[in-house]
Amino acid sequence: MRILGIESSCDETAAAVVENGATVLSSVVASQMSTHGKYGGVVPELASREHLRAIVPVVREALESSATTLDDLSAVAATVGPGLVGSLLVGLTYAKSLCFARGLPLIAVNHIEGHIHAVILEAKRAATPVEFPSLALVVSGGHTHLFEVRQGFAYRLLGKTRDDAAGEAFDKVAKLLGYPYPGGPVIDRLAPYGSPEAVRFTFAKMKGNALDFSFSGLKTAVLRWVEARDMEPEIAARRALLRQNPTWEQWLAATPQATLDLLASFQRAVITELLTRAAASAEQIEARSLIVSGGVACNSGLRAAAQAAALPYPVYFPSPGLSTDNAAMIAAAAFPKFERGEFAGLDVKAEAGLRLA
Ligand code: KG4
Ligand code: ZN
Repeated sequence: MRILGIESSCDETAAAVVENGATVLSSVVASQMSTHGKYGGVVPELASREHLRAIVPVVREALESSATTLDDLSAVAATVGPGLVGSLLVGLTYAKSLCFARGLPLIAVNHIEGHIHAVILEAKRAATPVEFPSLALVVSGGHTHLFEVRQGFAYRLLGKTRDDAAGEAFDKVAKLLGYPYPGGPVIDRLAPYGSPEAVRFTFAKMKGNALDFSFSGLKTAVLRWVEARDMEPEIAARRALLRQNPTWEQWLAATPQATLDLLASFQRAVITELLTRAAASAEQIEARSLIVSGGVACNSGLRAAAQAAALPYPVYFPSPGLSTDNAAMIAAAAFPKFERGEFAGLDVKAEAGLRLA
């Protein structure tokens, strides 16, 4: 049973063919990084245009490289939200047209549920299925959410960010310091060269839900740290480097020790914030596993810290290719829906602010 997944919620146009909810036969991702990089963030109008350009060849490649024809498909799954509405529309409309033309069922997938299924899929494939209830930390450029995941994929929101997403904090700090977009990967590479104890960041105590996150204070603390020093020449030098498409070694050479210390301390603060609340939520629901997914799950410091914490339940991270946006996770999330006969009408709408729970 093969499902074609299509993902276009942000700045990646992706298509994948997944068999029986466990085997990724193909996963094609066309990244728009080079388009948005020079703006230091995703420009929605450009994203829609790039999706339009990429959708046909990306879907074709996903089918061809998995030796799948449209006749071999049992369904087409597409992301319906959350995300940029103009971007979502491209993938969703293309999926609808395929379904209409070939008489295939359409499955509407929530992008956040997709991130969770990136882990479910790999665990199933490795014959170490995730045990429920599970605590899922979905941490990306757009989301920082804690969900309880119960048997049969029922979700309950336990906490979320009140301001910036963790990935957004990486991206904003990187931009402020003259590094490229997205900021997470470059900070991840540079942080091991700095001391995580050098700069002390304290988190303001928050009223209300103790499982909510906040990253805007941290971002402001970095800004204050930068303003208190004469960093303009250093930052200007990196901004000049941006145009040359440098390697991370060149970024390292362009980063003085004090800035490496700042990056290491910032990353440590984000990791501590994420893992503390994830562990507290897992304890609260008596979780039998912890799932960490989304672009920030690529972070090697976060992976190492999660291992070092020796938590009393298994911790699952997706392989890096399935951590950031992809369509295999969308096709994977569609399988339980296919089994339940949960199909969408061709009038289903893209929803920028769609919630999972
Ligand atoms: O899941 P994703 O591809 O797109 C969204 O749904 O947002 O996540 C992208 C985010 C960006 O903010 C990027 O900076 C962050 O994930 N990211 C990382 C790393 N790789 C990507 N953050 C920290 N460390 C990384 N290695
Ligand atoms: Zn995502």
